[in-house]
Parts: sequence; structure tokens; C-alpha cells
Amino acid sequence: MLSQETRTIIKSTVPVLEEHGTAITTVFYKNMFEAHPELLNIFNHANQKQGRQQAALANTVYAAAVHIDNLEAILPAIVQISNKHVSLGIKPEHYPIVGEYLLKGIKEVLGDAATDEIINAWAEAYGVIADAFIGVEKDMYANMETQENGWSFFKDFSIARKEKESENITSFYLKPVDGKNVPAYQPGQYISVRMAIPGEQYLFNRQYSLSQAACEDEFRISVKRDADNDPNGRVSVYLHDEMNVGDRFEVSAPAGEFVLDTEKDTPVAFVSGGVGITPMMSMFETVATLTPERPTAFLHAARNESLHAFDKDIQKHVAAMANANYKTLYSDQPQGYITQAILEEYVDITGDVYVCGPVPFMEAMIQQLSALGMKEEQIHFEFFGPAVALQTV
Ligand code: HEM
Repeated sequence: MLSQETRTIIKSTVPVLEEHGTAITTVFYKNMFEAHPELLNIFNHANQKQGRQQAALANTVYAAAVHIDNLEAILPAIVQISNKHVSLGIKPEHYPIVGEYLLKGIKEVLGDAATDEIINAWAEAYGVIADAFIGVEKDMYANMETQENGWSFFKDFSIARKEKESENITSFYLKPVDGKNVPAYQPGQYISVRMAIPGEQYLFNRQYSLSQAACEDEFRISVKRDADNDPNGRVSVYLHDEMNVGDRFEVSAPAGEFVLDTEKDTPVAFVSGGVGITPMMSMFETVATLTPERPTAFLHAARNESLHAFDKDIQKHVAAMANANYKTLYSDQPQGYITQAILEEYVDITGDVYVCGPVPFMEAMIQQLSALGMKEEQIHFEFFGPAVALQTV
């Protein structure tokens, strides 16, 4: 339990830390990776270069500190981040390292303004926040280990099939090298892949949504090939260009909270843009298989026909379902956007809607669905890439 004095110091210094946020986190990561280069096997190097994850981690520590009296209130945000952490194999022993360098970053940037009193208060608060994460993650790892065919951290998988879905999206069917089946997962969950790329010093980790309904003996991910010069695209380019049937890499067990509620039979709509279609495929196939009577709409936005993945698969399912509608819009064509009028026509606003795609697409969809009268709890979404920390907390 933090003393009242410590809490007062924490709350009064949050605005200062936020103000110097970028400077502190830049120093923090630079020093941490100099002292612990092995952590570059875990962190996404492209996010580091772009400064995105920098902001996410430290901002969340500050935001959590505001709720230090009642961390329960931000448990949903902790759980969401912890899903990402367990997918990446973050361990309890990593927390003191992050804490040490975050505090050193604060001290270095604030100089004399960061008195011992302030630093000690933050050290204490960080410890409380870290313990909350470690506790949640311990339970998640335990669940992964006890689930049938489950595991924690990473295990070897090999590519069983590689199938082109569109001009720039290819599916990889993955089977465990130990010959076991895969655990049942919830539609919408993702895995992390971890691989060594020849010529690169550190391992690469990326998360990919599972793109088919749970299947006993394999996972499927469907990967968009990014541009050659996109630093974030290194893994996707390597997968597309260099990895073939029989090749191996490591995979973590399914994680993530952006999942379909399979218990419901009320109307459901899937709204996706570009490669955001991948978690939708898993959810939609699950509805088509388990509850084909469920009123279902699928709206998809792609640039053009050649970049449109899974069209035939979706059409096949729709034809076999009692009450499903499907529409695709191509943004290269006039009026090729999902407008509020189209949402109104297809989405039953008494049900649930799942949205996934690029950030501006999602923002537009969420705003329009809200304008149609859907409530926050009916609109489910997941941003690709680091969550914008202060929005989630
Ligand atoms: C991702 C917060 C500790 C490694 C994240 C994200 C947040 C966050 C907000 C983005 C989540 C998302 O993408 O959805 C925190 C907080 C921590 C903490 C508040 C301490 C209390 C750690 C530790 C490690 C770690 C100890 C490992 C040394 C990562 C990695 C990612 C991540 C690798 C994925 C993003 C990337 O690769 O750049 N964390 N984190 N975090 N965190 Fe943490």
C-alpha cells in the first residue's frame, strides 16, 4: 500500500512526466537497449524506430499511476496489454529492468527537478503497477499451459501449405513440429511469430490474427506483403518471398481479447478494411459453422478486386447461411467507400458489430456506427500495432 504522501507526489508529477514524455521514453529505451541488447529480440525494432511503442509503454505507466489507489478500475486495459505481453513471452524478471531504465530516464531528463523523493515515489508506484501486470500474466501463462495441447512462450511450427489469397495477401497454414494438435482458440485471437532472418542481428516478432475458425491440427495466418522499404514490413516480405512449405519458425499460443461472443444468436456484423479482414474471417467462419441461422452482415473495403482476399470463401458461406448479407466496396472506384448509409442498410443496430482495419478506417466506422445509435458495448474493435495507451486506460 502506498503512503498518502507518495500518492500525492505521484499524482502531482504525472503532468510533468507527460509533458516530457517523448524525451524520457527516448532516453529510457536508448539506455535500456544499450545495457540489455538481448531485449531487442523481444521488442519490435520498427516500432522503436518510429517511436510508437515508446509512447505506449511509458504513457501507460503514468496513466496507471493516476489510478494507483484502485488499479481494479483499469484492469481491462491491463488485461489487453498483458495479452500482448504473454503472446511475446514477457517474463516477471523483465519488469525490474524496464523499471530501472524508466526511472533513470526520468532522472536524466528532469535533472535536479527529479528529487530523491520523487524518484522514490515513482519506484514504489512502478513496483505496484508491475506487480499487477505480473499477476495477470502469471494466470494467463498458467491457463495456456493447462489448456489441452497448449503451451506457454514459443514452440516450433512448420509451414504445411502456402496459398495466395490476393495480389498482396498470402495464407500460411502452420502445424506444430512435435506432431501435436493445436489448442482450441477463440475467433479473433492472434499469435506471435518469432523468427531469425538471415543477415539480421536480432530476432523478429510479429502478431498475426488467426484467419480461420478454430481447427484441430493447424493454425492459419494470412499475411499482407508490405512494401520492401517499410521497416515494419521485414517479416511480411521475408514470409512472402523466402518462406515455403516445410520451413519453420516459432509461434506463441493464441491470445487476445477481440473475440466473437459465440454464445449469442443476435444479429452480428463484420466490417473490415484491407488486411483487417483476417480476424473477421475467423469470426465469420465460426458463425457460418456454429450458428448459420444468425442474422449476419459482412462489409468489406478493399482498394480493388485484385487486392480483395477471401471473396469466394465468403460468398460460399453466405450462400449456405439462412440470413447473411455480404457487400464489398472498392475504393479505387467512384463511391467505393463504406458510408453511413451503407452501414445503416446492412448493420442491424440492435446487435453487435466487429470492426477491424487501418486506424482512419476504424475511426470513421466507429463514429458512423455510433451516429446510427449503436452503444460502445455493441461496437468491438482492435487496432493493429500498439494500442494508443491513454485511450485504453
Ligand atoms: C507492448 C505497457 C512492461 C515489452 C506494450 C503496450 C503497452 C505496454 C501499453 C502496447 C500494447 C499493444 O500493442 O496493444 C507496459 C507497461 C509495463 C510494461 C505499463 C510496465 C508496467 C513491459 C516489459 C517488457 C515489455 C517489462 C519486456 C521487457 C513489451 C513489448 C511490447 C509491449 C515487446 C510490444 C510492442 C513492441 O514490440 O514494440 N506494453 N509494458 N513491456 N511491451 Fe510492455
